[in-house]
Amino acid sequence: MPNQLLMTALQGEITERPPFWFMRQAGRYLPEYRDIRKKSGTFIDLCLNPKNAKQVTLQPIIRYNTDAAILFSDILIIPYGLGMDVRFEEGKGPILDAVSDFDGLKALSLTKNWTRIETTYETVSLVKAELPHTTSLIGFAGSPWTVATYMVEGQSSKDYSKVKAWAYRDPCGFSSLIELLVEATVKHLSEQILAGADVVKLFDSWAGVLSPCEFEKWVIEPTREICRRLKERHPHIMIIGFPKGAGVGYKNYIDITGIDAVSIDTSVQTKWAAQKLQSIKPVQGNLDPISLLVGGKQMIEQAKLICDDFQNGPFIFNLGHGILPSTPVENVEELVIFLRNLSREVR
Ligand code: CP3
Repeated sequence: MPNQLLMTALQGEITERPPFWFMRQAGRYLPEYRDIRKKSGTFIDLCLNPKNAKQVTLQPIIRYNTDAAILFSDILIIPYGLGMDVRFEEGKGPILDAVSDFDGLKALSLTKNWTRIETTYETVSLVKAELPHTTSLIGFAGSPWTVATYMVEGQSSKDYSKVKAWAYRDPCGFSSLIELLVEATVKHLSEQILAGADVVKLFDSWAGVLSPCEFEKWVIEPTREICRRLKERHPHIMIIGFPKGAGVGYKNYIDITGIDAVSIDTSVQTKWAAQKLQSIKPVQGNLDPISLLVGGKQMIEQAKLICDDFQNGPFIFNLGHGILPSTPVENVEELVIFLRNLSREVR
């Protein structure tokens, strides 16, 4: 691996400054993204057009030279590859034809419609060919639980009542959906790795809505299975996990799942995380996206506190969740200057 700061931190080393990248670093807050988006048809069309998706992936690298690029795609590409109709409506977010029970799974297939998402892997190789050697390429997928919330609710949800009700009413049937998603995720990430992804990330954005027992069943176990199967095929691949909102559950997550690093959300106390999580695995996080949106002195103070608390272990700077669309580009620029000028004692 040619001298990539992100990979060095993932291997557990303290780097001369923390590598950084930002969740949703490509997206609507960038004028150059909005330009391409206007010309590219639907959001799914943009995700599946290798030339345009490559361009969008590279936009934050061109602007800020972040230490990593994250493939431009979406976690809902997997349900699309399984044969579901997935649309993104202005102001509403994603709309899917919901699967509500075991019988509904019959319409889904790991093979029949998969070709419609295969251009994703072409995007990965196009990006890889153009990235500087020092910049890591992150592939990703949603975790089974989070993807299942969209497949069962049919859209973004406030209370997750349909998907949780299915899991309580018929755990056996629901586990068939989760198992299908485990297989699809391994297949999707494996192809991204073969195409050139240096590291992969699992987004479990709604891990925090589950009770402890359900968290164990639908977050920890499927994640463990994905890590096991991926590492069987790609022994050296690094996997970052993001069980957003897991609270004290982050500890079990890193102890049990086999992930290589954990991405923490804004609610996680950094001192607690340095002691309980970073002592076991590298940590990535966790500036509040709203602090970035507001910018100025408070943003730099917040970023500094985070960097200080994680300075004695392997650490990757990021946000606690994605950049918001109304974030001024200048705030991101100011944060990048601060991060680039940080230095740490390397041990
Ligand atoms: O981080 C990056 O820059 C890479 C691209 C990326 C997108 N979505 C692009 C996107 C990644 C990694 C995702 C992950 C994703 N998608 C998650 C997990 C992370 C998180 O934010 O919790 C989730 C839950 C989704 C599902 C999703 N996609 C929703 C709910 C929405 C609608 C809300 C919104 O932000 O618009 C999307 C759309 C989406 N995904 C956009 C982008 C740039 C905006 C679509 C547009 O341009 O019209």
